[in-house]
Amino acid sequence: MEKVVLAFSGGLDTSVCIKLLEEKYDAEVITACVDVGQPIEEIERPALVANKIKVSKHYTIDAKEEFATEFIFRALRANAVYEGYPLSTALARPLIAMKIVELAKKEGATAIAHGCTGKGNDQFRFEAIIRSMSDLDIIAPIRDLNLTRTEEMEYAKSCGIPLPSDKLYSIDENLWGRSIEGDILENPTVEPPEEAFSWTNSTYDAPDEAQILTIQFENGVPVAIDRAKMFPVKIIAECNRIAGLHSIGRIDIIEDRIIGLKSRENYEVPGAILLITAHKALEQITLTRNELKFCEYISETYSELIYNGLWHEPLREDLDTIIDNMQKRVTGNVRLRLHKGNLRVVGRESPFSLYSQKTVSFEDKEMDQREIAGMVKNYALQAALYNKICKKD
Ligand code: ARG
Repeated sequence: MEKVVLAFSGGLDTSVCIKLLEEKYDAEVITACVDVGQPIEEIERPALVANKIKVSKHYTIDAKEEFATEFIFRALRANAVYEGYPLSTALARPLIAMKIVELAKKEGATAIAHGCTGKGNDQFRFEAIIRSMSDLDIIAPIRDLNLTRTEEMEYAKSCGIPLPSDKLYSIDENLWGRSIEGDILENPTVEPPEEAFSWTNSTYDAPDEAQILTIQFENGVPVAIDRAKMFPVKIIAECNRIAGLHSIGRIDIIEDRIIGLKSRENYEVPGAILLITAHKALEQITLTRNELKFCEYISETYSELIYNGLWHEPLREDLDTIIDNMQKRVTGNVRLRLHKGNLRVVGRESPFSLYSQKTVSFEDKEMDQREIAGMVKNYALQAALYNKICKKD
C-alpha cells in the first residue's frame, strides 16, 4: 500500500479524491488542510469529513502568518495583478504545496495527491512546487479519470461522502481574496447573482455615509489603519472587512488560463484593491519617473510568474531583490475615501516624498522660469525636423 498525502480542502474534488485513492489506487490516505485564511468552517469541515471518511490521519497546518508576510506582502509590493485579477488563489498554491511536501517527507509518504482537474491552473502550480522540492510521485485522480463535476457528485453520493451543503459554485477563499466559478457563471452573458458574493456588500447595501481611512505603510507594506498598528494577518483582514462593507473589490473578468482556455472569473478582493490602490499612490510620490516606469514592467512579469505557478523561478527572487531595495522609501500615509463602490485616494505623505509643493507652486519664484526656456526650445527637435522635411505638402 502506498502512503499518500492529499492536499485536502473539504470541497467536492478533494473529498472524492480520498475514496478514489483508497479504491482505485490502493493507497493509505493522510489528509492535510493548509490554513491560508479561509473562513473557520473551511478549516473545521475538512477535519470532520476526514474523520467521517476515516482517513488514516488528518492535519491542519496554520500558514496564515507566512502567507501574509512572505506571499501577500511580496505581491503587494510588486502591485501584482494578472489581467485584472489580484492573484489570490494563485498566490496561495505554492505555499500549500510547500507545506504538503514537508508533511509528506515527515510522514515518509511516497506520493502526494491533489484534486485539480486537467483544465485549470492549479495543477501547474502544485506540481511545479512539488517537483522542485522532492522526487515524490504525484497523483491527480480527477484528472486521471477525466471526471466531470456531475460524475464526481454521483460518485460522492454512492460512497456516502459528505459534501458542502448544495454549493452551486466552485469557491476558493484565502486571506487575499475569494474566487467564484462554475454553474451559471460559466455563461459570460449572465450577470452574477447577488448570492454569489459574501465578502462584499452590493452598492445598495453599502453605508450611505462615506468613510475616510488612513493606511500607514513602512517599506511598502501596511502597518496601521487610522494609526492603530496591526499585525499582517489582522491588517489584511481589516482591509477586507472595511472595503467589503463599502462594496469595493468585486471583479468580473474573462481570464486567460495557462493552457490557453479563456474562463469567466468572479472575484471578491476588497482588501487587495484597497491596499494596491494605496500602495501605488505612495509609490507615485516616493519613486522617480524611471523607477515607476520600470515598476510597471516588474509588476507585469512578477504577476505572470505568480499566475503561472513559477514561485520557485529564480527570476522571482531576482525581482524581489530589486523590489526590496526600491520599497525602502515606500513609507508614509495614504488617505482614502470609500463610498458605495467608489475608492478614491484623497491624500498622501511620506518622509521620502519627491514632491515639492514649494517648487511646483504657481506662486514660487525661486525656480526661475526663464531658465527653462532653453530646455524647451530644442525639446521636440526631431519631431520638428520630421514635420518640416517629410510633410512639406
Ligand atoms: N482563476 C483563478 C486562478 O486560476 C481562480 C481559480 C479559483 N478556483 C476555484 N475553484 N474557484 O487562480
